[in-house]
Amino acid sequence: MMKVAPSLLSCDFTELKEEVKKLEVAGVDYIHYDVMDGRFVPNISFGLPILEQLRRITDLTIDTHLMIDEPEKYVEDFAAAGSDIITIHVESTRHLHRVIQQIKQAGKKAGVTLNPGTHIEQVLPVLSEVDLVLVMTVNPGFGGQSFITEMVDKVRYLNDFRLQHQLKFEIEVDGGINAETAAICREAGADVLVAGSFFFKHDDFNEPTTRLRGE
Ligand code: DX5
Ligand code: ZN
Repeated sequence: MMKVAPSLLSCDFTELKEEVKKLEVAGVDYIHYDVMDGRFVPNISFGLPILEQLRRITDLTIDTHLMIDEPEKYVEDFAAAGSDIITIHVESTRHLHRVIQQIKQAGKKAGVTLNPGTHIEQVLPVLSEVDLVLVMTVNPGFGGQSFITEMVDKVRYLNDFRLQHQLKFEIEVDGGINAETAAICREAGADVLVAGSFFFKHDDFNEPTTRLRGE
């Protein structure tokens, strides 16, 4: 079954605990936690203190998406604060392979991601090392943007590559995901759908969860 990962960026932060309880009841798979530093992306979101508090109120898998420069300086902190999966951008570090080892050494699942303008070949050298590959389907930095259809080719490519090389990484998509674009990604081979604005515009979280899964 398709996994659903609501992006907290679009939740109501004045009601964080209630939002998280509603996510648990709806049976979502991951909580997608978007960290932005105002350097790697032109926006600033939230970081370690909120993650620590989030960890205290839920057992859901926390899927941390680091949109920060020099992630090597912070991966241990994000691991200690409670992330289960830590995903870094290929564009954000000179030592991609090393940072992935760092994440695994901290006992966490490692993910790699790439901007829409980055060629998929950039991630090939680390595919045997990662647990997850995130395909950005918008330029990172903001919720509520439109899905870039061309990125579906990257999902297909990864799905083929995974089969050919008998690898096990999950393929996740992020940006502009709604019921329609989810169906396109599902068909292309995606396993995990991140959704922010589409997900949180609903009051009843069962609805986006089942619609994204295509049930
Ligand atoms: C974008 C973030 C996304 C964002 C998705 O930089 O990585 O996770 O929250 O938001 P939507 O689903 O609204 O495009
Ligand atoms: Zn994200």
